[in-house]
Amino acid sequence: MMTRSKRKRVWLVYALWLAACLLLSLPSFSRAAGDVAAKAAICTTCHGLGGNSTTGDYPSLAGQTSRYLYLQLRDFKAGRRSDPRMSPMVENLTPDDMHALADYFAAQKPIATDFKADPVKVEAGRKKSEEILCTMCHLGGFTGQNEIPRVAGQQYPYIVKQLQDFRDRKRTNDAGNMTSVSKNLTDADIQNLANYIANLQ
Ligand code: HEC
Ligand code: HEC
Repeated sequence: MMTRSKRKRVWLVYALWLAACLLLSLPSFSRAAGDVAAKAAICTTCHGLGGNSTTGDYPSLAGQTSRYLYLQLRDFKAGRRSDPRMSPMVENLTPDDMHALADYFAAQKPIATDFKADPVKVEAGRKKSEEILCTMCHLGGFTGQNEIPRVAGQQYPYIVKQLQDFRDRKRTNDAGNMTSVSKNLTDADIQNLANYIANLQ
């Protein structure tokens, strides 16, 4: 049974999604290449103001590498990555739109989330990250580079979901980089790693 407030939230999310779908399908949106701010405004209904998400359902985009953002938009459009809330958002975006949106969100300043890390899990996650050499690709502090995403300060539930999706091969657009490093992670490892990384700024 859903509680009343949970049901309200589900409806609100659905209404926002529907509004975003309708706006994105307007011809003026696909034509107005210059107006990146107007397009980005739609994205922020889920991804938060300036791409700083305030809920674990949606990843923050602020300060992410532009190259990575572009590649994800391209992959959603090509169906190589899929999500029922995100996939419809790229349907009318051209490659130019995707580059412009990627540059726009990469240029926004990331704001710290209100995540309260568990110090024991943070330490366990730091050790696991050293053991698996995560930072060989993501760089120290998980700040990312080019096509490798910044994960520092990302929403905790989102990090957990992505690591599970890679491990369970529900997300496979990573050229094997993440599916291979995550295949032996336990749920506890994933929680520890996510505590550590979400706590980084
Ligand atoms: C209705 C809500 C919603 C809207 C509106 C929306 N997104 Fe998303 N977006 C999501 C969700 C949910 C995910 C995470 C999917 C998953 O779990 O894999 C996502 C993921 C992404 C990602 C991948 C991020 C990462 O770290 O891998 C990018 C990039 C992105 N969205 C960009 C956009 C852009 C640009 C727009 C506007 C054109 C937009 N989104 C509009 C819900 C939304
Ligand atoms: C061999 C290089 C490499 C290593 C090692 C690596 N990653 Fe990644 N990681 C990537 C790449 C590349 C992507 C983006 C994949 C894509 O384009 O979909 C990624 C994506 C991710 C994402 C998804 C981010 C998002 O915004 O959706 C998370 C979370 C992540 N890595 C965490 C980790 C952790 C934790 C470790 C160590 C256990 C690790 N990575 C080790 C290359 C690597």
